[in-house]
Amino acid sequence: MGIGIGLVAARVAGARVQFVDSSAAQLDKGLAFLDSLLAKDVAKGRCTEAVRSEIKARISTAPSIAQIGSADFVIEAVSENVDVKRRIFAELSEVLPAETILATNTSSISITKIASAARRPENVIGMHFMNPVPVMKLVEIIPGLQTSAQTLDTTLALAQRMGKTTTRSQDVPGFIANRLLMPYINEAMIALQEGIATREDIDTTMKLGTNNPMGPLTLADFIGLDTCLAIMRVLHTELGDSKYRPAVLLQKYVDAGWLGVKSGRGIYEYP
Ligand code: CAA
Repeated sequence: MGIGIGLVAARVAGARVQFVDSSAAQLDKGLAFLDSLLAKDVAKGRCTEAVRSEIKARISTAPSIAQIGSADFVIEAVSENVDVKRRIFAELSEVLPAETILATNTSSISITKIASAARRPENVIGMHFMNPVPVMKLVEIIPGLQTSAQTLDTTLALAQRMGKTTTRSQDVPGFIANRLLMPYINEAMIALQEGIATREDIDTTMKLGTNNPMGPLTLADFIGLDTCLAIMRVLHTELGDSKYRPAVLLQKYVDAGWLGVKSGRGIYEYP
């Protein structure tokens, strides 16, 4: 998602963007994808070659947080692991100027918990983008307990500059989107597990019957079954209600390494 967020920041908001990843291979893969999206924009006449070059000129990379230099605004988009995120926020607040705003794209983890690892928790906020970021119009904004009004205002202004509509959520597990979406996906897994219907019939019912672009099982593969499981675990653990218990089948698929589109197999096969 980081590549999508950075692309929108450079292309729509006109910001200078630095991508940071400790894996050079991941950075190369991400930038190749970004190039393909920009090439499609040119091919479809949505931007000129000159504009494409200007956007590219605003984009750079760094191999580590220590080498970022300076930044007004950072958006972290690593996987859903609270310890990794807390380590990153501690490191970011050591190397960046005091006024830098540190946003996390977490989809369910407590902003307050991530912020408490930073030197200035008042500068930390949740900025939850939807996938695919260049296409989806929404960003959930989640202030933590210590987030300042100034951090909130600057974040709302940036999201607007990026052409996104914002909603605001309390810092509660899953925020708005995943509090509603993940139990829906989890229930679809339970329906499959119980043999209520085939995967195709579950998806077709919800796609055509409730006018969604994807059925819940296709969407789960698209999001990543490991991500869905991680979010369900946060809902279950933090809210303590058995209605959020992850489906056994979801756990089983993740155990098998069937993570969805990204691994070539999930609920469906992606040869
Ligand atoms: N990055 C950038 N652009 C992408 C993209 C990606 N990963 N995937 C698709 N697109 C673009 C395509 O390039 C295409 O753009 P153009 O029209 O300019 O060519 C456009 O999206 C439509 O794509 P397709 O024609 O290939 O396919 P489609 O019409 O079936 O749309 C879809 C694909 C946009 C993904 C659509 O199926 C959809 O909206 N699905 C639901 C997505 C959704 O619900 N997302 C939220 C997930 S939950 C989440 O993100 C939060 C969380 O915490 C888990």
